[in-house]
Amino acid sequence: MTFDFAPLFPAGLPAPAVKWTGAPRYNFTGGNNNADQVPVEGLIAAADAVLRREGRTLATYGLASGPQGYRPLRQFLAAKLKHDAGISCSFDEILIVSGSLQALDLVNGALLARGDTVITEEDTYQGALTRLARLGVNAVGIPLDRDGMRMDALAARLANLQRHDIRPKYIYTIPTVQNPTGTIMPEQRRIELLKLSEEYGVPIFEDDCYADLTWEGLRPPALYAMSKTGGVIHIGSFSKSIAPALRVGYVVAGWQILSRLLALKTDGGSGALEQMVLAEFCEAHFIEHLPKLRRSLRGRLEVLMETLNEQFGTAAEFDAPKGGIFLWVKLPNAVDTLKLFQSALAAGVAINPGPEWSTDGDGRKNRMRLCFANPSQEEIRSGVTTLAQVCRTAFGVPSRIANVD
Ligand SMILES: Cc1ncc(COP(=O)(O)O)c(C=O)c1O
Repeated sequence: MTFDFAPLFPAGLPAPAVKWTGAPRYNFTGGNNNADQVPVEGLIAAADAVLRREGRTLATYGLASGPQGYRPLRQFLAAKLKHDAGISCSFDEILIVSGSLQALDLVNGALLARGDTVITEEDTYQGALTRLARLGVNAVGIPLDRDGMRMDALAARLANLQRHDIRPKYIYTIPTVQNPTGTIMPEQRRIELLKLSEEYGVPIFEDDCYADLTWEGLRPPALYAMSKTGGVIHIGSFSKSIAPALRVGYVVAGWQILSRLLALKTDGGSGALEQMVLAEFCEAHFIEHLPKLRRSLRGRLEVLMETLNEQFGTAAEFDAPKGGIFLWVKLPNAVDTLKLFQSALAAGVAINPGPEWSTDGDGRKNRMRLCFANPSQEEIRSGVTTLAQVCRTAFGVPSRIANVD
């Protein structure tokens, strides 16, 4: 008889994970990146150099850099954030974490209790929403337009919550290449957001993990850089600029917050090899690596939009994202993407159904998010063609495919 652990599980555990059965043939899900653009040779050279020079520091937890992470990586980040995002911070205001997902957990751990309220964009990162749901925290979604979170709607919502004596714990935003909408919040709107945050005493939680992937390589200053009060926590990641499997992200915050996050980060430090290799690679090559990555992603996006237009015609509506790796697609109301997800998967095509990426779950039944970074241009063409066939069989949409009845 095999031992049964089930009676030992405490109440409130998340539902068990589903066993991985292999990658789908056409994978438009998740935040995966372009395999051809992982700078493999550069990483090999960096690993060789840094290990020969400093490998012995692996003998101590936290290398010789302390619990906030490998110091040269934090120094690289401080210089990069100054240059790209206008953030003036010392390496001491940076905490290296195991992917920005860990940053979400740490910030939530420091600020949230069951029953709290937070503000998010109405369409937002599923990983943020599932965490909030698990913590019993109420996520209030603010509608977006082509410039990101709408400030008129935020102002009205904050005023309404205040009338009910509710002070949200934070405003979570992805202002620079929003997930899933691909919008960039302009500087003027950032000023308005900071003003509302100060007026209502609600800090901003700025998730900037796609900020390196704007098509032109330019971006507005980070909210963290623009704040005059220090009421912003900024997080970022190397997942989208180098590779997600490395699991290296970071938090920029004042010591009052960092000291709390550090106390909650009980894993003995994030993986040291990744940090060392990244620091060594990025110092010399990050700047030349990015334009190639952006070009390749934009090329794949063009193919995706072209194929959607060809296969779905007017049935697929979307705004071209201003960077990043996702296209947020609206289909006719007849389509339920939770069901489309199942039939498409059976045909080898994986998509992200809209309801999982919104505080307005039901209202996004006819939306889907497509990640275009990982499939090749050929796979994008074939995958979308198959998706259109599946969608037509299941929902009669599109009524014509590639102009053929
Ligand atoms: C908005 C956002 N934040 C955070 C993450 C987590 O990224 P990672 O933990 O790989 O840094 C993702 C991943 O897709 C994301 O889209």
